[in-house]
Amino acid sequence: MNRFRIISLAVLAVTFVALPTSFAEDVDTTKATPPSVAEARVRARLLHEMVHGALQVMHRDFFDEEESHAIPSRSLEDVFVELQRGHRVSVRWISVNTNAMNVDNEPQSLFEKAAAKQLAQGKPEHDAVDQGRYQYAGAIRLSSRCLKCHVPNRTSTDSRTAGLIISMPVAEEK
Ligand code: HEC
Repeated sequence: MNRFRIISLAVLAVTFVALPTSFAEDVDTTKATPPSVAEARVRARLLHEMVHGALQVMHRDFFDEEESHAIPSRSLEDVFVELQRGHRVSVRWISVNTNAMNVDNEPQSLFEKAAAKQLAQGKPEHDAVDQGRYQYAGAIRLSSRCLKCHVPNRTSTDSRTAGLIISMPVAEEK
């Protein structure tokens, strides 16, 4: 993996936490009310964990070994484990309108199945609160260079979509 791709992955990784929908033009997060100091600290800690973890896995899997065959989504899953352990934020991939490359990534819960339907229709995100948990699904664009593996026998070059599910406990709203 060359440096450009490593940097692209870093930018993508940061985007997951900072602006999960920044690939989606119709969601403008810049006009949102600024967060409280406490909220900003939580966001900063999460971003730190994500960037720190992503940097470690990139060096481990893509930089030291020039002939590495690591799969980026899989490497990032090691960072997801840390986000769960240190921040109680659960993160996982889902397939949306392709067959899952890994069957473990098929949508499982009712929320994930509903989210996959929404993202397949072109929505950039979908969220819900249920039983003290906030659940968020953001679209991951599978452009044509991704599809040679993700949809090997495709008949069109249209982009497809996968998803990233992020969920965490929240205080119940009264
Ligand atoms: C060389 C083949 C290849 C290419 C090219 C590729 N992927 Fe994948 N991708 C895989 C494999 C294999 C997995 C399954 C990893 C695992 O075992 O968890 C996967 C899994 C994923 C997943 C998890 C969902 C699923 O279907 O299992 C996402 C998201 C993903 N890739 C995104 C991308 C994106 C975005 C691109 C293009 C920028 C891309 N991939 C290009 C091989 C590829």
